[in-house]
Amino acid sequence: MNTLLLGVNIDHIATLRQARYPGMLDSPNCEPDLLAAAAICEKAGASGITTHLRADRRHIQDEDVYRLRKSLKTKMNLEMGNTPEIVEIALRVKPEDVCLVPENRREITTEGGLDAAGQLDALTPTVRRLNDAGIHVSLFIEPAFPQIDAAVKLHAHSVELHTGAFANTQGEAHAAELARIREAAAYAHERGLQVNAGHGINYVNIAEIREVPYLTELNIGHTIISRAIFAGLEAAVKELIAAMRG
Ligand code: PXP
Repeated sequence: MNTLLLGVNIDHIATLRQARYPGMLDSPNCEPDLLAAAAICEKAGASGITTHLRADRRHIQDEDVYRLRKSLKTKMNLEMGNTPEIVEIALRVKPEDVCLVPENRREITTEGGLDAAGQLDALTPTVRRLNDAGIHVSLFIEPAFPQIDAAVKLHAHSVELHTGAFANTQGEAHAAELARIREAAAYAHERGLQVNAGHGINYVNIAEIREVPYLTELNIGHTIISRAIFAGLEAAVKELIAAMRG
């Protein structure tokens, strides 16, 4: 089995910064420093850095994306909604990976997967343009066969299986969600897609996720940044990577 890779989502570091320094990226007081945080994650073993440039710019700013693009030593995974403005930015930045996500202005974080099956017409030109620019396109979808079929039709490179329902349930419902993720991972792998997962994965439930077959990469944010408050960012990333490897 290949080694499971970790993309660290650093949006919450930007959330903390924006709470105090909105519009002040170039101020000497502006902290915490996103590029320094990304470098620490990379040094600790992250295989990539994930950021979500939201239409409302509530955490990550355009300038963050451009600066990270220059400073990252690993790879950039840019999460984004399928909107013309953000697609143009992605084509300028050319991250290694783009993950298309649903976006809803009032949500606290991404809720539910992208309805790729229901939005084939809207997604087709976007995926084509990103593919043509040499960007690997991933779709953040529910672990459901019709969504995986849509990813194949769209010529996506990867799917990121939404693990939120798994993370937020207990008992039988939790076991059922885990089974759904396992089946979806196998189904997507058989159809030639790279299989990633993310949302709500933490230091405890990683023990179940790491046993899911065919997973290549996990994108994890909130639990790492939460632990970093007590343990420091480097230790928090290293601890999660150790847990991923069992
Ligand atoms: N992957 C995607 C597509 C997401 O939208 C998010 C949340 O921003 C994550 C992964 C990370 O989720 P969490 O912060 O719960 O680890």
